[in-house]
Amino acid sequence: MAASRAQSASGLARLGAGLGAAAVLVASAGCGALLGARGGAPVKPPPAWVSYPEASVETVANPHNYLGAPLCQRCHTGPGGGLRAEPVALCKECHPQRHGNHPVEVVQPHPPADLPFGPGGRILCHTCHDEHDLLARKKGLRLPFNDLCLKCHQQH
Ligand code: HEC
Ligand code: HEC
Ligand code: HEC
Ligand code: HEC
Repeated sequence: MAASRAQSASGLARLGAGLGAAAVLVASAGCGALLGARGGAPVKPPPAWVSYPEASVETVANPHNYLGAPLCQRCHTGPGGGLRAEPVALCKECHPQRHGNHPVEVVQPHPPADLPFGPGGRILCHTCHDEHDLLARKKGLRLPFNDLCLKCHQQH
């Protein structure tokens, strides 16, 4: 337990160091290309829904890239977007909190309009990670590392 706390503290220190580096780039941070209109979330339609036999879905380890596409059914109950679990719990089924992870379920006071949040500005895993396009950027981040941090952590 103590060991895992220490590990997670060092992970945040690593994030903190990244933030320091990001601050240097404050002047060049743009607004990003994903400008939101749909309830503050980025406008980027998910790929097409493809159905597979339920029994085979259960055995798939990586839902982000199954036969070259995200495996919709692993996360959703149907094409409308309904999730099989609360969004953070869904991700944690396969990604228990580990070092390097940013806190979630914390509230962002003035949520930027072009990132998706939970009700009340709560930060979810998919606030930072594009759940439908994990391969587009390093670690599936919605924006380049520094630009992402600066969305919420502004210099005063
Ligand atoms: C790793 C899990 C995961 C996979 C795989 C996945 N989704 Fe999603 N999807 C999510 C999450 C998380 C949200 C955000 C839901 C929310 O904000 O309540 C979402 C949102 C959606 C929405 C709502 C509109 C939007 O874009 O926010 C639709 C529609 C959708 N997904 C369709 C799909 C389809 C079609 C596939 C397969 C091609 C797919 N999803 C694959 C996790 C996933
Ligand atoms: C069914 C299990 C499962 C679920 C559910 C799941 N993932 Fe993953 N995820 C994986 C596997 C397997 C990999 C690839 C192996 C690894 O790096 O752990 C992966 C990789 C990733 C990566 C690393 C990508 C990279 O380029 O290194 C991120 C980020 C990620 N997932 C985020 C999420 C988010 C956010 C959610 C919830 C919306 C989620 N995952 C839901 C299994 C899952
Ligand atoms: C505030 C933004 C942010 C949030 C929220 C966030 N992450 Fe990340 N995540 C990152 C960044 C940045 C990295 C890359 C860290 C690095 O490269 O050192 C990362 C890395 C990852 C990786 C790859 C880890 C590895 O060791 O390669 C996974 C998996 C992941 N996150 C899953 C999650 C899950 C699951 C959640 C929700 C419980 C989550 N993230 C919430 C920003 C975030
Ligand atoms: C979506 C908004 C958002 C993004 C993007 C974001 N953060 Fe945060 N960050 C927060 C909030 C909110 C907190 C919690 C602040 C608090 O509780 O006082 C936080 C807390 C932190 C902490 C302190 C963690 C702790 O437990 O004390 C660090 C370090 C941090 N962020 C670094 C980063 C880095 C590095 C990035 C870029 C990879 C990043 N953040 C991206 C909103 C964000």
